[in-house]
Amino acid sequence: MALKLVMFGPPGAGKGTQASQLGQSRQIPQISTGDILREAVNRGTALGCQAKIVMDKGKLVSDELIVGIVRERLARSDVEHGFILDGFPRTVAQAVALDESLTDEDPLIVIELSVPDQVLVQRLSCRRVCGQCGATYGASGGEVPTVCSSCAADLVVRDDDREEVVLERLRVYREQTQPLVAFYGDRFSFVNIDGNQPPDAVQVSMSIAIDDVLSVAGDRVAHGDRNDRVQVTS
Ligand code: AP5
Repeated sequence: MALKLVMFGPPGAGKGTQASQLGQSRQIPQISTGDILREAVNRGTALGCQAKIVMDKGKLVSDELIVGIVRERLARSDVEHGFILDGFPRTVAQAVALDESLTDEDPLIVIELSVPDQVLVQRLSCRRVCGQCGATYGASGGEVPTVCSSCAADLVVRDDDREEVVLERLRVYREQTQPLVAFYGDRFSFVNIDGNQPPDAVQVSMSIAIDDVLSVAGDRVAHGDRNDRVQVTS
């Protein structure tokens, strides 16, 4: 059974950190819509110029644009054994479009990462990214890093991590993305994970939850009762 996973949660919840680690361990691609858009911004494409204006204000890029990008990405052959969607869907319209584009029987596992607002603001004020390789860093032992440990390039603050933009991103999250909890909440493959634990502990919680869902999904296929809705808790 292919691992098809959606990760959503507020800005700074750790979606990118966790998706990257999980993608490596399960050998499936991490598809981050934020990364795709930032790459377009860096390359100065028409999409990038359009997206930058929206992203710098902490708003969401249009559903039409982002759904097109994800559809195109999911048509590539490397998703054959699964994928991790990091930051998509983030509106109900995007979630509906995703359901429509998944035609096979693999369960879509949906993980919501929960972290209190004050922790998110603190994390994002310390986040630094490598201007060269894109690696993400957080504060370590109270120190904010300045140089990339992989490529030795200077670390920079992401344009949308300025405090006023972070507050707007949190507001937009509550208004437009939080409704996904109601959209996905009664599916057996929806799981809420406490993201306010050390990164390795979050990864362990996620792995256990994913294996639980895959096991339930396997049983359901074996019993031919795929339409039952059973809640799996983390
Ligand atoms: P995107 O890049 O997806 O931003 P986001 O959702 O706001 O999420 P972040 O990347 O800020 O945080 P994260 O949850 O990945 O946390 P991270 O692992 O980095 O999107 C950017 C913009 O693009 C959007 O605002 C929008 O404009 C546009 N966009 C993207 N997708 C879109 C869509 N589908 N529709 C429309 N528009 C879209 O961790 C954060 C920090 O915390 C790091 O420093 C990290 O080291 C640290 N950290 C992580 N985990 C832990 C932990 N457990 N304990 C302590 N520190 C931790």
